[in-house]
Amino acid sequence: MDSGTERMMRANEANWDARTPIHAESRFYQRDPETWFADWEWADLGELADRDVLTLQCHLGVDVVAFARRGARAVGLDLAGAAIDEARARAQRDGDDVEFVRANVYDAVEALGGRRFDVVYTAKGSLCYLPDLPAWASVVADLLNPGGLVYVVDFHPLLNALGPSQNGDDGPNLLLRNDYLSGRGAIEKNSTHTYTDGPALAGSTRAYEWRHGVGDLVTALAGAGLRIEGLRETEQIQWPRWPHMEQTEPGWWRLPEGEPRIPLLFALRATKN
Ligand SMILES: C[S@@+](CC[C@H](N)C(=O)[O-])C[C@H]1O[C@@H](n2cnc3c(N)ncnc32)[C@H](O)[C@@H]1O
Repeated sequence: MDSGTERMMRANEANWDARTPIHAESRFYQRDPETWFADWEWADLGELADRDVLTLQCHLGVDVVAFARRGARAVGLDLAGAAIDEARARAQRDGDDVEFVRANVYDAVEALGGRRFDVVYTAKGSLCYLPDLPAWASVVADLLNPGGLVYVVDFHPLLNALGPSQNGDDGPNLLLRNDYLSGRGAIEKNSTHTYTDGPALAGSTRAYEWRHGVGDLVTALAGAGLRIEGLRETEQIQWPRWPHMEQTEPGWWRLPEGEPRIPLLFALRATKN
């Protein structure tokens, strides 16, 4: 990584450290870990009991705890020290048998001492913080046991590309407002508030994101020698991104029935030979 990219990842670390105390107190991060996953995510993940499962960019470790409660030997890794401290404190409070490691995902092989896993998982809202997908895919391949599964669930790049028009009469019209494809480098975001309920950040409001098309992701994983097993695209997400979205079942929203069906989330499964 060049020094500019290293600097941006350090800014992201400080930003996630600043978000952590707000997230720790938020209603958003008090939800039951089991309910963070759709039935189809559990089906894609398969049997987890007695499996070594690593969550990259685990934040407060909600997914890690959910996997442990299904019988996995669950490890979470994240760049933000404050998030790892909070994840450990929560696990201790709730008696969950999990392990957390503070490291940059690009240093994960070293940080985990060469351990390998049956499942490597990354959750929604993770890929946008990765400046280099081929390098990340190579780390993922190194972390997997032979036969192991990488499961990537994230917001669809089309969701990130769309934004509402300013003054629609019958609800917002969605327009293409942001890049779908990568290629324009880092995007600087400067936001005093995070995505959960709670107060403003105390500082470190600047963060950097990178866009990745679905083709970039598939190509990066295939280039690392992984075999793509499936790529699911769904029209539902776990919060009402735009005000006119409709709730379909507890915790899931979609665009109204009359609007075009477009993917808002995707889930990719790939395996190592
Ligand atoms: C939106 S969260 C991921 C979703 C998470 N599973 C949750 O519970 O909400 C993004 C996480 O990525 C982490 N992160 C960002 N860049 C990283 C990097 N280079 N290496 C490791 N973690 C990183 C942040 O610290 C943050 O905790």
